[in-house]
Amino acid sequence: MTLLLLSALAVAEPPAVLPGLEAETAAEAAVSAPPSGLDERVEELLRQMTLEEKLGQLQQLDGEAGGDYRPEHLELARQGRLGSTLNVRGAKRVNELQKAALESRLRIPILFGYDVIHGFKTIFPIPLGEAASFDPAAAERSAAIAAAEASAAGVRWTFAPMVDIARDPRWGRVAEGAGEDPYLGSVMAWARVKGFQGEDLTAQDKVLACAKHWAAYGAAEAGRDYNTTDLSEHTLRSVVFPPFRAALEAGALTFMSAFNDLNGVPATANPFLMTQVLRQEWGFEGFVVSDYTAVQELVAHGLASDGAEAARRALGAGTDMEMVSRLYNQHGARLVQEGRLPLAVIDEAVRRVLRVKFRAGLFERPYAELGRESPVLRSDHLKAARLIAARSMVLLRNEGGVLPLDKRIRTLAVIGPLADDKRSMLGTWPADGRAEDAVSVLEGLRGKTFPEAKVLYAKGCALAGEGAEGLDEAVRVAQQADAAVVVVGEDADMSGEAASRAALDLPGRQLDLVRAVLGTGTPTVVVLMNGRPLTIPWIAENVPAVLEAWHPGVQAGHAVADVLFGDVNPGGKLPITFPRSVGQIPIYYAHKSTGRPPDAKNKYTSKYLDSPVTPLYPFGHGLSYTSFELSDLALSAKTLPPDGKLTASVQVENTGNRPGDEVVQLYIQDADASVTRPVRELRGFERVTLKPGEKRKVEFPLTPEHLGFYGRDSRFIVEPGLFRVFAAASSVGGLEASFEVVPK
Ligand code: GLC
Repeated sequence: MTLLLLSALAVAEPPAVLPGLEAETAAEAAVSAPPSGLDERVEELLRQMTLEEKLGQLQQLDGEAGGDYRPEHLELARQGRLGSTLNVRGAKRVNELQKAALESRLRIPILFGYDVIHGFKTIFPIPLGEAASFDPAAAERSAAIAAAEASAAGVRWTFAPMVDIARDPRWGRVAEGAGEDPYLGSVMAWARVKGFQGEDLTAQDKVLACAKHWAAYGAAEAGRDYNTTDLSEHTLRSVVFPPFRAALEAGALTFMSAFNDLNGVPATANPFLMTQVLRQEWGFEGFVVSDYTAVQELVAHGLASDGAEAARRALGAGTDMEMVSRLYNQHGARLVQEGRLPLAVIDEAVRRVLRVKFRAGLFERPYAELGRESPVLRSDHLKAARLIAARSMVLLRNEGGVLPLDKRIRTLAVIGPLADDKRSMLGTWPADGRAEDAVSVLEGLRGKTFPEAKVLYAKGCALAGEGAEGLDEAVRVAQQADAAVVVVGEDADMSGEAASRAALDLPGRQLDLVRAVLGTGTPTVVVLMNGRPLTIPWIAENVPAVLEAWHPGVQAGHAVADVLFGDVNPGGKLPITFPRSVGQIPIYYAHKSTGRPPDAKNKYTSKYLDSPVTPLYPFGHGLSYTSFELSDLALSAKTLPPDGKLTASVQVENTGNRPGDEVVQLYIQDADASVTRPVRELRGFERVTLKPGEKRKVEFPLTPEHLGFYGRDSRFIVEPGLFRVFAAASSVGGLEASFEVVPK
């Protein structure tokens, strides 16, 4: 029997409790069921609405830069013609605008949205960094804290999680996602939706989630933001869709359309995405909001000759709400009157919006509760931010025991353009986070060393450009120190939206700075602060200790100090491949074998003349201050039917002398299928904390959802044949076993 299975990967339940965090227990599957009588209430409202009021519900407008509403919004609200805003926040202001909406004829409340991507006031690591924790409970926790803070400010909807799979680090928005892998991306999508929404969508401290950007935005050609994407349906279903499906399964009730042209049909007007897959195949009951002016941009795409055609195509495809551009309201009535757009299409879009507003409890509780906003960051939130930041860090190299640093150190040099930069610590979506609340690396290290220790600082060079007048000062400072920490990378604006880079080297003269400091002979540690993989082959080769810290959030300095001095043993793993050079891109671990896999001894195989084919650091890579060993990979069966299940188990032991975390990763390879399959695919992981000498058995289920793939007819199937299983500490190497799927 061919199994038509869930198209999502089996999304693992996040572990219940994170050590050191009072994390809520892992949430159950479905969110609160729709309130009884929901459809009747929606239909009752719809029956009363004028066409103008209906189109008004499909309009989202942007607030003032500082979060206030605009005068025009009040008037539109009183006329019942403003369905939603973005960027309006602050309980008092939200309530003022909401009051105007509740004075309208039908009293339909406004839905207040905002980009709460990795924190609201307490800013957490960028999502790419959080994914490096391989700790869904951490992701759920940070989303829950963000929701609590944002909802206190009247925000009821966040435009997150961003779940775009990205395999081209030239694209700046890799910073906002969970990296290159659909399984990790699915687990993180699930966790973040659960964190934002919880189990009860009407709860005071929760916000609606929004899975974005639907779809394939991360496949922008040449890594250039907003650029064309062209992917096979097979790749869409196998790589791009799973995290969106996981977000939907976790209860997400809104999606956001992507800017990009997908296979010739821009996502915002793409019926395959918005109707066939999302509604007909997946049964999505929420609504889709366009990205910022994406409806208007259909004209620039060349898909629509004018605004009316753009509105017709976007609404007709299934994009329900228009963000910022106003074509639905400008042209909707005429499109209906001219018979170019059935009123039923508008009605269905309005139904979807109203349903979500009812399910979010907006009619029962339209106002923000005053007094919940805190002028200061809560200590428990800061504690969580510090721990999650430390758990997101990845130890890329540690030769000669340079790390952890000794707390008795007498003189420490802290060097680099990012060493005392507070703003960049907050990353690409700082929401209402404040740079003055951030702890810089310099402050964090000063706070960790003994009072009698000397902590010397030198900026060394500018973050970009040729300015290097500070190099000599940096060398002098390093020469006086027992160890030097050099903090280099990108500032917060060098990644994120509209921040593609054609080269991925350290900007400016930062590499010269690292070389100069290392040249003093002082034991040197490089701390990377970046929103994407960087090409750092010289550093990887020559600097004995390298820590990937990403943009770690408001507690950056304390978290970096905790890791560098060993109070936290780093346990993160790379969620995205680090290339040696831009020339290798796209490069990712779940690649196909090809008919001529690279062979150094055979010219006529798939490789370069001028570069290795291997990455600088592979997906899943990350070291520890202790050491671990995997052993005894065992499968509960050697054969199984296509609908069968088995368990893979492996022993992991801490063979070193300090407690630490290992992320045990389970990969499969379907070695015999009617469609070529990747050489490895992540199908399970578990971050375990072990004491020295402690050994633990870790088990991974392998079910049809894990083993299946989209066949030539785009149906999700499990085929008979050989499967290899790998248990490893990264996407390279590890223990191997195999089993056979046999026909029933
Ligand atoms: C931006 C982004 C999107 C964001 C939206 C609202 O252009 O593409 O991710 O949620 O506009 O700020």
